[in-house]
Amino acid sequence: MARLVVHGGTPLHGSLEANGAKNAALPIMAAALLAKGKVTLRRVPNISDVWTLTGILKAMGCKVEYDGTGLMELDTSTLTTTKAPDHLVRKMNASFDIMGPLLAAYGEGEVSLPGGCNLGSRPVDLHIAGFRKLGAEVNSQKGFVRATAKKLHGAHILFPKVSVGATKNCLMAATVADGETVLENCAREPEIIDLANFLIAMGAKIHGVGRQKMRVTGVKQLHGIDYSVVADRIEVGTYLIAGAITGGDVTILGCVPEHLSSLLDLLKEMGQELTINEDSIRIQGRRPITPISVSTEPYPGFPTDLHPQLVALATLGSGTTTVTENIFNGRFMYAMELVRLGGDVRVSHRDVVIRGVKQLDGAPVDAPDIRAGGALVCAALAAHGESTISGVNFIDRGYQEIEKRLSLLGAKITRADFED
Ligand code: EPU
Repeated sequence: MARLVVHGGTPLHGSLEANGAKNAALPIMAAALLAKGKVTLRRVPNISDVWTLTGILKAMGCKVEYDGTGLMELDTSTLTTTKAPDHLVRKMNASFDIMGPLLAAYGEGEVSLPGGCNLGSRPVDLHIAGFRKLGAEVNSQKGFVRATAKKLHGAHILFPKVSVGATKNCLMAATVADGETVLENCAREPEIIDLANFLIAMGAKIHGVGRQKMRVTGVKQLHGIDYSVVADRIEVGTYLIAGAITGGDVTILGCVPEHLSSLLDLLKEMGQELTINEDSIRIQGRRPITPISVSTEPYPGFPTDLHPQLVALATLGSGTTTVTENIFNGRFMYAMELVRLGGDVRVSHRDVVIRGVKQLDGAPVDAPDIRAGGALVCAALAAHGESTISGVNFIDRGYQEIEKRLSLLGAKITRADFED
């Protein structure tokens, strides 16, 4: 089993170019199922979730060419089945993104209940309710969801709670439905905006992109295009926190600072020095790390996907920080791992209370999910001595070549195989 071996205590220095966003690239790849014609994508991150979705689309007969350097060519016109391979779907939550496009473009889809990171319950009831409103018949049996529709029709869908996944799926399905669809209480994450911009570039008619209410006028079909994926704000945020926690000086280029406003405000409040330009962010780690209090919220609020990394930073704070998790009820498994590194981190219901300590010490830790992995890497980079991080398969799902990227900043981090 691979592990990351980190010798902490070296301040990170230098600059990195942001990669494309996992959570935009995946739905955009799924949305290529709607295109009549070839789709070229640029800045597709070389992460295992992208390879998993590539495998799903290929198993369904689509042509996908990708060599991990950012450029991907998709031709979905060769699709031979609307049933997705269960063993791959189970590997990640975003695999359910293909249901909306399958239903809209082919009138049917069968996708097993998705797997992915264990962050607590992750139902797809809001997706299914939306498909039903659009005229689909949906049955869920023995872990498989089967949806059919002769032709989807426009509808008024009011999401009872904000959901990134349900907003994406219903938006994609509505683009080629008959008539007008109104989506209300939509998620407004930058990745949803990127997906909407991609759909518009393919010929979809969407008004209100980035707002809580979107209006979609169905068109007959969408066409192939060439599109570049937005920068990954969560990867950028993780590397900024790595810069701060090590007391380093790190610049991330090619990103969209506005997408990170909530994090940047918090980092300033925590006493970190930031220089923000149009498409780059520089952080200079400062001491003391001032304690804060924050809750995760849907965008533009503070993102749940940066919660564990921010907690890692707060472990070296000069007082007590609290982070309240409002999106996922089970996103706390990382806390015990930070304790192994010497952090004082306690979880009570949805609140994480972090009492700052003077120093973290290297230890063997296990990453229970992608962002927990990001947090453990940050903490290990600041800890004295050696840490080994297992669960690298989770980290690889969302962070492209993390040890190579961090090594460019001077981190002492390598990947090694261990016999378990
Ligand atoms: N929810 C329902 N029913 C549904 C859908 C969601 O109750 O049908 C609940 C969820 O259980 C959760 C809340 O609504 O409590 C929000 O879930 P949402 O649908 O917004 O999240 P998601 O689509 O499952 C995406 C990202 C996550 C990110 C969340 C929140 C992708 C592939 N995943 O998940 O990213 O944390 O939005 O921003 O886009 C990650 O990248 O590591 C990651 C977990």
